[in-house]
Amino acid sequence: MSYSLTTVLYIAASVLFILSLGGLSNQETARRGNMFGIVGMILAILATMLGQNMAGLANMSGTGYAILGAAVVPGAIIGAVLAARVAMTSMPELVAILHSFVGLAAVLVGVASFLDPNAHHAGAEAIIHNVEVYVGVFIGAITFTGSVIAFLKLRGSMSGNPIILPARHMLNLILVLVCCYFGYAFVSDPANGMQPLLIMIGIACFLGIHMVVAIGGADMPVVVSMLNSYSGWAAAAAGFMLSNDLLLVTGALVGSSGAILSYIMCKAMNRSFISVIAGGFGSDGGAAKGGGPKVEGEMKEIELDETVELLKAAKNIVVVPGYGLARAQAQHTLAEVTKILRKKGKNFRFAIHPVAGRLPGHMNVLLAEANVPYDIVLEMEEINEDFPETDVVLVIGANDIVNPSALTDPNSPIAGMPVLEVWKATDVIVMKRGRGTGYAGIQNPLFVGDNTRMLFGNASKSVADILGKLTG
Ligand code: TAP
Repeated sequence: MSYSLTTVLYIAASVLFILSLGGLSNQETARRGNMFGIVGMILAILATMLGQNMAGLANMSGTGYAILGAAVVPGAIIGAVLAARVAMTSMPELVAILHSFVGLAAVLVGVASFLDPNAHHAGAEAIIHNVEVYVGVFIGAITFTGSVIAFLKLRGSMSGNPIILPARHMLNLILVLVCCYFGYAFVSDPANGMQPLLIMIGIACFLGIHMVVAIGGADMPVVVSMLNSYSGWAAAAAGFMLSNDLLLVTGALVGSSGAILSYIMCKAMNRSFISVIAGGFGSDGGAAKGGGPKVEGEMKEIELDETVELLKAAKNIVVVPGYGLARAQAQHTLAEVTKILRKKGKNFRFAIHPVAGRLPGHMNVLLAEANVPYDIVLEMEEINEDFPETDVVLVIGANDIVNPSALTDPNSPIAGMPVLEVWKATDVIVMKRGRGTGYAGIQNPLFVGDNTRMLFGNASKSVADILGKLTG
């Protein structure tokens, strides 16, 4: 394939990736955005396979495509099987482990590029190339180990509680300065560069672990989007090293969109952006910690019949879905309940907290899957003021996102995080299996509130029972 055709395909793929990002920012255009991304990726793979580098490799050794096939085909099969099998609730773990692969790839590309016997860089070009290698490997190593820790935490294989070493900010700063020193040694004497490069990889791997173990509980969403951003920058650095424009553009897109998402999440959770990207740097109050005070009072139960009666009598109903709804996979039954109550003339709406569930937009995806109309699905800031005029709030499998202690208790691990102020409604019905805490591992005073009653049971059964009573 000619060089210019490869360039055209690369540009087309880049444009499609940008359109894809634009499409994904809105529920109505998300499917189209996804399609753009898929087509862009197919073009990118084709351009890479048929491009100059591959053709050269194939001519040179005759085995270029065999090597590519041996790597790409099993990789594609494993990826497809894993993606098809993964439960929606395990998506963040999958995303975290995929970020770790990008980080590891950046480290390997960097080391390979440094060792490449065919690379002939001289003068300023050599310095620039070596800086690219060093910075790319540094970001890649942090992303790699940070993402592995995030994977283990999200999977529950490691405690979600933050592990805080004494003087951790100072330690991080010293380690970064040591890496800068070895970077100088690496660039000024590349002939003996392997040793400083390897030492830096060790330090950066430790930094990645240290930054993510210090962040706990409810702050994990920000970590996931932050590592997403890091993996983008690692890919962009690999693009520099390989002189591959598409990898560079794509990496920069992922890096910057991940940074924007992290910023939005930080704002939603009232956390400092700088403190999170630096692993809690500059703020000891930023990271949420498990624990929290015990809540006094008794939970009051409600029966199914009374729940249905309240719903029938109510004019304004708001549903707050949370992680438990996803676990129960009750969204389709809930969509049926929605249809029936809307037909009865109820003002029936959904309130979505930005970190509900376990991944950004989790609840929106669940409700879209069940064809709940977009116009009755409202973001927290759009609906929070309406709770005082709401007759019944149904909290389905949600906990941290409706915890009033975030606003009332400055010592709460989630202090300062905006929450859905459901307790202002006339009646609140909380549907959950038992008295378990939420992701942040803290007690919730909402459950013992005067106007709150608990409908215990798996949400799949409780929602189905409500549907049964409404249709029966
Ligand atoms: P959580 O605080 O995790 O609460 C979910 C509740 O659902 C639990 O208290 C659980 O109580 C209940 N539950 C679980 N399975 C259920 C089932 N089958 N039927 C009925 N109830 C069930 O969820 P949330 O309120 O959505 O808040 C999200 C939390 O996750 C936040 O702390 C957030 O920071 C964190 N997080 C979010 C993300 C993103 S990006 N969204 C990523 C990582 C972490 P029982 O055990 O008593 O049933």
